Amino acid sequence: MNDATRKPIRKAVFPVAGLGTRFLPATKAIPKEMLPIIDRPLIQYAVDEAREAGIEQLIFVTGRGKTAIVEHFDMAFELETTMKERAKTLELLEPTRIQPGNLVAVRQQVPLGLGHAIWCARAIVGDEPFAIFLPDELMIGQPGCMKQMVEAYGELGGNLISVLEVPQEEVSSYGVIAPGERRGAITEVKGLVEKPKREAAPSNLIISGRYILQPEVMRVLESQEKGAGGEIQLTDAMARMIGQQPFHAVTFAGRRFDCGSKAGFVEATLALALERDDMGADVRAMAHRLLGD
Ligand code: UTP
Repeated sequence: MNDATRKPIRKAVFPVAGLGTRFLPATKAIPKEMLPIIDRPLIQYAVDEAREAGIEQLIFVTGRGKTAIVEHFDMAFELETTMKERAKTLELLEPTRIQPGNLVAVRQQVPLGLGHAIWCARAIVGDEPFAIFLPDELMIGQPGCMKQMVEAYGELGGNLISVLEVPQEEVSSYGVIAPGERRGAITEVKGLVEKPKREAAPSNLIISGRYILQPEVMRVLESQEKGAGGEIQLTDAMARMIGQQPFHAVTFAGRRFDCGSKAGFVEATLALALERDDMGADVRAMAHRLLGD
């Protein structure tokens, strides 16, 4: 295998320029990625997962009305000064600290699709393999999803996507893989299709919001036509790379919550709240009460 496809993963792209229409009116002035699961915005969970995997540089692909995401990772000088004066600890702000220079924001301008959003980061990604995180997919595991993928990448190189099994009737909302040989959590990817009809889906293994891709994908995206939903689809670009470079899927050992949907968002909130030392018991009692148990 070509050693170039094994370079370490130092950069991650976070496409956050979507319109978040499913959460309107909440997302009219607040980016979807800033909606909190308890006390951390969705983007924070994704950034924490990236750092755990050893990723240094964070590239946000943003759009109009999304500045709160960049502000969240900036130093809040007045807040910090006031908190210090009042002898309050700054510990809760710790996860929002990024080393100067390690956060770059580029604008997508018009939300033409996920593939187009990724392509907007091409100059910053340069000639290196990179990770992609869709922050509305909340992945909870130990180690985290990207860390599991980086470990697999160390062995396999090339391109990797995280997948999970869903009931067959749900496949048409997602990108689906045509699986080849399986070895433990690793599945060879022979094909990819975005939002297939249920009958036409090659499997029930769906792409779940985490990717490690080689920089050549940018050149494929450059000439990409619109696909499903009239958007420039990342899945279509990845499909064109199969056969050119190694392409594998990693089945994530952990839990995934689809926080792009309202029910998934509530599920994530409840699941994480129930597990917390500071509130789990109270939330459990409330849930019993609400359910009339
Ligand atoms: P979604 O399909 O969830 O779209 O995008 P959305 O616009 O955020 O939400 P809805 O469907 O209108 O409610 C998946 C990810 O890709 C990003 C989104 O920000 C989200 O993280 N995205 C999507 C872009 O950055 N640009 C796009 O043109 C489309």
